[in-house]
Amino acid sequence: MTKIKKIMKADTVWMPRKDWHDRFNSLKNVPPIFQMVWEAAPGVVAASLLIRVTAAVLPLGMLMVTRRIIDAIYVVTSHHTKLPSGFWHLVALEFVLACMVIILGRLVDFCDTALNERYTRHVNTRIMRHAATLDLSRYEDPEFYDRLERARVQGADRVGMIQESGQLVQQVISTLTLAAGICVISPWIMFALIVCVVPEFLCETKFAFLGYSLSVGQTPARRELDYLRILGTSKESAKELKLFGLGQFFSGRYESISKDIHRENLELAGRRLVWGSLLALLGTVGYFATYAYGIYLTLAGALTLGTLTFLAGAIAGASTNIQSVFSTFSHIADHALFLTDLIEFFAVKPKIYSKAGSLPGPRPMREGFEFRDVSFCYPRKSKPVLENVNFRIEPGERIALVGANGHGKTTIVKLMTRLYDVSSGQILLDGIDLREYNLEDLWKNIGVIFQDFMRYDMTVADNIATGKIDERNNAFRLRAAAFKSLAETVVQKLPQSYDQMLGCRFAGGVDLSGGEWQKIALARAYLRDAQLLILDEPTAALDARSEHEVFQRFADLTKGKMSVLISHRFSTVRMSDRILVVENGRIAEQGAHNQLLRSGGAYAEMFELQAAHYR
Ligand SMILES: Nc1ncnc2c1ncn2[C@@H]1O[C@H](COP(=O)(O)OP(=O)(O)OP(=O)(O)O)[C@@H](O)[C@H]1O
Ligand SMILES: [Mg+2]
Repeated sequence: MTKIKKIMKADTVWMPRKDWHDRFNSLKNVPPIFQMVWEAAPGVVAASLLIRVTAAVLPLGMLMVTRRIIDAIYVVTSHHTKLPSGFWHLVALEFVLACMVIILGRLVDFCDTALNERYTRHVNTRIMRHAATLDLSRYEDPEFYDRLERARVQGADRVGMIQESGQLVQQVISTLTLAAGICVISPWIMFALIVCVVPEFLCETKFAFLGYSLSVGQTPARRELDYLRILGTSKESAKELKLFGLGQFFSGRYESISKDIHRENLELAGRRLVWGSLLALLGTVGYFATYAYGIYLTLAGALTLGTLTFLAGAIAGASTNIQSVFSTFSHIADHALFLTDLIEFFAVKPKIYSKAGSLPGPRPMREGFEFRDVSFCYPRKSKPVLENVNFRIEPGERIALVGANGHGKTTIVKLMTRLYDVSSGQILLDGIDLREYNLEDLWKNIGVIFQDFMRYDMTVADNIATGKIDERNNAFRLRAAAFKSLAETVVQKLPQSYDQMLGCRFAGGVDLSGGEWQKIALARAYLRDAQLLILDEPTAALDARSEHEVFQRFADLTKGKMSVLISHRFSTVRMSDRILVVENGRIAEQGAHNQLLRSGGAYAEMFELQAAHYR
């Protein structure tokens, strides 16, 4: 069964109530969005509203003038009297009103353009700022990621709603003024007009809702499409793509998923076309029926020719406007549904944050860190990754974490840096729970380079400066950090030195080798004025000589500071003061290199295994 069929099936079961309920419920998204629009550009919003209100009353004004002109002409031609005084003033007034319609229309377009750009900028900046505050665990949750994606793509894309809201104001005022004009002549005509357009409105909103449901259901598939498109065209995948002959596989998969999406969308669009057209015709029937009734009244002598002209114009205007009011309203409800994701995204609050009255990070740290019976389980996982982990790291101490893949080394670092909070137990810093400290302050005191560090497609200087962005313009400190991490040797070879653009995304960019990137990333850690330095497999891509040099420096530079090193290379690990062996989420043993070798445990076994290859 295709996705749409599932949706349709589900929708026949629960649609009638929940559908309407959801649709109206979604309108609660409109006020916060308007608040954002207002924040983005208050002046433009006010000007736009003023213009629209003025433009809204013009149609009635013009019809009233036309009515008087035609009645005057009728009197002149049928009774052969003189033109009444002020007749030409009326014609001039109509001309002025017509000019105003054109100018105000242009002004509205201008305001819309200005507003769209400001709103898009405002929303995107807010999304980026908010995303930066959220917990890491959020990003590892596919459901949240889908929402972020929808918020990002659709939230900023909803500028149409702003225009339509402006139009709605204008259409409502126009409709009310024209309706008042029609009601004065015949309330029944007005009633008939309304009855004929309601079904179309109901149909439009129903399909808007179905469209939304469909789009939500398609988000994972769209994400996969995006991913495949990137895989099929990116530099990172190009090597394997060619050598393993994956091009056909990726493009075939892309094609098949996008065909499914297309088929579902087309099916819905087809139904919308049929029902929408039928009900729109009903609206037109309403217009002509009331028009015919007006003609009948005029022929019967109940209306003047001017009044018939007025009525015809007002009926045409009102029926178009009522139709537009309903369809604009249903579009707004449609947009509002999509905005649910944006609003919900903004409502997500980080679970890891600084408490009110949090402590400043201790400077200097006197006792260091202590893991006390720490257990940890990733969200949505049942099996704990760490169980009852106990260890200390004191100021001036250099420890190393070793262990097989997937046993929890990186996780320990994530907990120490409060990217996650422990599930049970405590991590203490200077004897106080880590959660008591101000988060930003804590992070300022830690320099960490993860195994999957970022390679920014920016200049060398900016790549290093990301370690401490306040120092971005401090060339001296950037150089000093590069010198410490051996990145200086990489920079020397680059034609534009520190201003060299890295990566292949932008013009003039130069790509580096894995080890060269690693040296640049290491410079970030040195740029920070950190009391705790953590390097998670920082030398995996370094050649033997570089690795030796890097560690010699690391050892020198971290003297008196705390450092945590994660590495699979024992030549590196052995330089640490203390080695912790992580096995199945527990600390299996700890001690200095020689001590662990002597005890003949897991460490000695791993060391022997690696050493054997070198003999
Ligand atoms: N974000 C996550 N969500 C769920 N499970 C995770 C997440 N990150 C890691 N894990 C799981 O936790 C376990 C420990 O992962 P961790 O990254 O700490 O291992 P590691 O010891 O650093 O391994 P490696 O030597 O390969 O870097 C693994 O089994 C992994 O599957
Ligand atoms: Mg790891």
